[in-house]
Amino acid sequence: MCDPGVEPWPLRHLVLRTPRLTLCPDDDAGLHELAALALRGVHPPEEMPFLTPWTDQAPDDLVRTSMQYFWRARARLTASDWSVHFLVRHDGRVIGNQELSGKEFAITREVSSGSWLGIAHQRHGYGTEMRAAVLLLAFDHLNATIARSGAFTDNPASLRVSEKLGYRTDGANTSARRGTAATEIRLVLQPSHFVRPKWMLQVDGLDGCLRLLGAG
Ligand SMILES: CC(C)(COP(=O)(O)OP(=O)(O)OC[C@H]1O[C@@H](n2cnc3c(N)ncnc32)[C@H](O)[C@@H]1OP(=O)(O)O)[C@@H](O)C(=O)NCCC(=O)NCCS
Repeated sequence: MCDPGVEPWPLRHLVLRTPRLTLCPDDDAGLHELAALALRGVHPPEEMPFLTPWTDQAPDDLVRTSMQYFWRARARLTASDWSVHFLVRHDGRVIGNQELSGKEFAITREVSSGSWLGIAHQRHGYGTEMRAAVLLLAFDHLNATIARSGAFTDNPASLRVSEKLGYRTDGANTSARRGTAATEIRLVLQPSHFVRPKWMLQVDGLDGCLRLLGAG
């Protein structure tokens, strides 16, 4: 039995609230909902916004490997290498995933992000709102000094979200995507260039997570 005074997973208490969205680190019930959302589609089949083409899989494989991906991230999480997957909810329903990660964060003060929304929920401003939420968490609550992201050149929606929030380009990588070369634009944002939203982020349950994220 755990000592009742010891919290093994403080991230389960973390909640970020924006005007329209709630972001909580993943739990199994939410992951089932997220996988069902992914099965309903994340992008048109002729497009591939992800380096690892996980959305090309057969439904059974997609659900299982997605769950394994998130479980792996939870199981491997340490203060020196963490990746938190926030389930994004609107009106209580999971509409997407917003990742925030850090390597040696206590030293680097750098975070990276990645995200997706179910196709039915895109182009309503949620992508910008959820990325802004984790940037506010990173800059204002974790004392990050750099945020990184990236998107393929043929992903105008993601590039536009980054542009709206103030990211600048920081070079490019060539990757093999679905067996052909694709160019990924690297993006970087410093707090002074962050185009802040007009709303305030409400953060609950962070205190117990700070040490776990190398931010204590
Ligand atoms: C990328 C993603 C998270 C953005 O979320 P979103 O809710 O659609 O984004 P927003 O509505 O906040 O903003 C999108 C912006 O891109 C613009 N945009 C969207 N599609 C576009 C297109 N095909 N061409 C040009 N601009 C486009 C929108 O007009 C909007 O800009 P605006 O506010 O200036 O009008 C979402 O589209 C998504 O999940 N895509 C599939 C997965 C993906 O690409 N993930 C990112 C991998 S790097």
